[in-house]
Amino acid sequence: MLFTGNTGLGKTFLSNCIAKEILDMGKTVLYQTAPIMLDNILDYRFGKSDYTELYDNIINVDLLIIDDLGAESLNSFKLSELFNIINARLLSQNKHVTKTIISTNLNMNNLMDTYSERIFSRLASYYNVCRFFGEDIRINKVFGKK
Ligand SMILES: Nc1ncnc2c1ncn2[C@@H]1O[C@H](COP(=O)(O)OP(=O)(O)OP(=O)(O)O)[C@@H](O)[C@H]1O
Ligand SMILES: [Mg+2]
Repeated sequence: MLFTGNTGLGKTFLSNCIAKEILDMGKTVLYQTAPIMLDNILDYRFGKSDYTELYDNIINVDLLIIDDLGAESLNSFKLSELFNIINARLLSQNKHVTKTIISTNLNMNNLMDTYSERIFSRLASYYNVCRFFGEDIRINKVFGKK
């Protein structure tokens, strides 16, 4: 699934609710924000950290949640790693059922402009796009609106 919508509409909250349900079913879940995940992978690629297990989990975990896609400072290395993850997750679905949730503040047009055609094509065709609408719940909480 691809959760897209403005800030404070509950994308992370809903991802976490789904993560809990999946964990309760005895399955594995990995949650990371896109900036941290991509930085970790670059550290692994350039030998700064031994993230072999993390990388293996990113590809093979039952549910991978990539939060805040678009918040990373993108470069060509990260773009290529993101493609690898999205593509490898789609391929690993053939071996066993794995699912991925990506959430982002970017809309489909922004995604097309920001990422490569090969990434956008996969997101647009293989992901269920869920658009979040409404008022910023975070702001409403602070100002006491329901
Ligand atoms: N269904 C809900 N019921 C109660 N509170 C909620 C619900 N969904 C979200 N919230 C609360 O609203 C606030 C914003 O939610 P969340 O952080 O999930 O938004 P977001 O869409 O991920 O925002 P951003 O794009 O800035 O990351 C949080 O404080 C969260 O706890
Ligand atoms: Mg969020």
